[in-house]
Amino acid sequence: MSEAPEKNLALDIVRITEVAALASARWLGCGDKEAGDGAAVEAMRNSFATLHIDGTVVIGEGEKDNAPMLHSGEKVGKGEGPRLDVAVDPVEGTNLLAYGRPNAISVVAVAPRGSMFNPGPSFYMQKLVVGGEASDVVDLDAPIKDNLLSVAKAMGKHVQDLVVFVLDKPRHQRLIAEIRETGARIQLQTDGDVAGALMAVDPRSEVDIMMGTGGTPEGVLSACAIKGMDGQMLARLDPQSYIEKEAINEAGIDLREILDVNDLVRSDDCFFAATGISGGDFLRGVRYSARHAVTHSIVLRGKTGTLRYVESYHNMDRLSKISAVRY
Ligand code: FBP
Repeated sequence: MSEAPEKNLALDIVRITEVAALASARWLGCGDKEAGDGAAVEAMRNSFATLHIDGTVVIGEGEKDNAPMLHSGEKVGKGEGPRLDVAVDPVEGTNLLAYGRPNAISVVAVAPRGSMFNPGPSFYMQKLVVGGEASDVVDLDAPIKDNLLSVAKAMGKHVQDLVVFVLDKPRHQRLIAEIRETGARIQLQTDGDVAGALMAVDPRSEVDIMMGTGGTPEGVLSACAIKGMDGQMLARLDPQSYIEKEAINEAGIDLREILDVNDLVRSDDCFFAATGISGGDFLRGVRYSARHAVTHSIVLRGKTGTLRYVESYHNMDRLSKISAVRY
């Protein structure tokens, strides 16, 4: 049975991540993460106001770090058109941007109203992300070694060939030791597990699997992207403080529940866009020439699985005359 194609919102939301990347890229390496994030938030807010959507922010970055926010619950768009849950991370990897390290990206995802997992008071989540070949062989409760052996077998590799993306955090000391015992290789990055998740599902990247605990909002955003690619993400809330654990218990959320991509985003009709801010393996950073700024983005549609890379040439002279955003 055929279905009339609906509007592809991926190309609308990539304009928003482009603008946020352009605004924040000026702060690359400046050592001031609030300034870069604030510029991206302001640019995103302005840009959302032009979209014909009735959006509510479900995932707004900032609560954990007291960063400038697009608040959870905030209405975005013109208030007409599709009713959407909106997830934003104006700068995913604020420290990466501030210290000029690779893989800072700007991210937006949208899905039908009520379909995105609401993190509530949860800040942290344990995650395991793999590409399509290994989607059915991972188990969050299994020992690290078993998961790595299963993934290697599913991918037709030796375990020593695998590359595991892990955030370089004290909480991961044991995880890192267990991965090393198997002989698998590790890509340790200080921040940026949305990029880590994207790399794990992208067959062109050297990363085969992402493991460890990172932000819950970042987990939902990653799930929106994985819905449009071939892969799986398993996750479980993993509070990192007594206060966070108590708040989750009080909200009646089951800490033992294992969530997959379809629990984190309960509709295939979702869209994801990310634009590189600092250069990385996955997306190029913002580049400037005499007249243009060049951005590199990925856009994904969950329903069709269409993935597009978008390279845009922004004419800075013309934009600065008409735009409210400061480039
Ligand atoms: P920010 O952009 O909010 O700084 O997030 C970066 C990040 O590394 C995420 O990719 C990751 O999910 C989270 O922080 C991990 O949190 P923490 O740095 O507190 O361990």
